[in-house]
Amino acid sequence: MKNVITIDGPSGSGKGTVSRIIAARLGYDYLDTGALYRAAAWKVRAKPVDPDDEVAVKNLLDETEISFKNGKVFVDGVDVTKEIRTAEIGELSSKVSAMPAVRQRLFRIQRGLCLKGSVVIEGRDTGTAIFPESENKFYLDASIEERARRRFAELKAKDPETTIEKTLDDIRRRDNRDSSRKASPLMKTEEMSFIDSTNMTIEEVAERIIKSLKA
Ligand code: DC
Repeated sequence: MKNVITIDGPSGSGKGTVSRIIAARLGYDYLDTGALYRAAAWKVRAKPVDPDDEVAVKNLLDETEISFKNGKVFVDGVDVTKEIRTAEIGELSSKVSAMPAVRQRLFRIQRGLCLKGSVVIEGRDTGTAIFPESENKFYLDASIEERARRRFAELKAKDPETTIEKTLDDIRRRDNRDSSRKASPLMKTEEMSFIDSTNMTIEEVAERIIKSLKA
């Protein structure tokens, strides 16, 4: 399968921006799978249900419609694209994403959205669990300090109370949880081309990926 490009990596690795650039350049669709987990977390918080109660979270999501279209995320038809970009929802999404029932629910949505055409899909398990059959798999990373700097630059406008130290702590906690969970953890495999973006521009990373695509 060559028309699905998977890009995995931790928070702040640059995978979102790079994926959007590559998709636009190749005329592919783009799917941000983290946005779907954030949308699930948004619903858990809005209802609200206890985020530690897997059965309650599963039941809630079974009756929730989550979709992604043209870079926007919808929960039951409501556009939540902006609201899900907070540190709080980031933390909650990492928590609920460790639940197998949540991953199963979102697995079906992700496969369904992608099977129709050519797509760049990015997240934590897109090359290992969602499209293991892809022949174009990438893993993006950067030093934790650089990733925290990038996240902090995004978050500080929305949350003036945030500090770089707090952002670094949040990232460390999320890295740990996302990589150590039992259900499809964030993982680099031998089939993935590895790119360390610490000292690279977004443009350089996008170029490197496009050049190494199997036609
Ligand atoms: O990439 P992001 O920060 O928007 O992702 C939010 C959370 O969603 C992340 O901490 C873990 C979870 N996630 C996941 O478990 N699997 C994915 N494919 C994408 C995100």
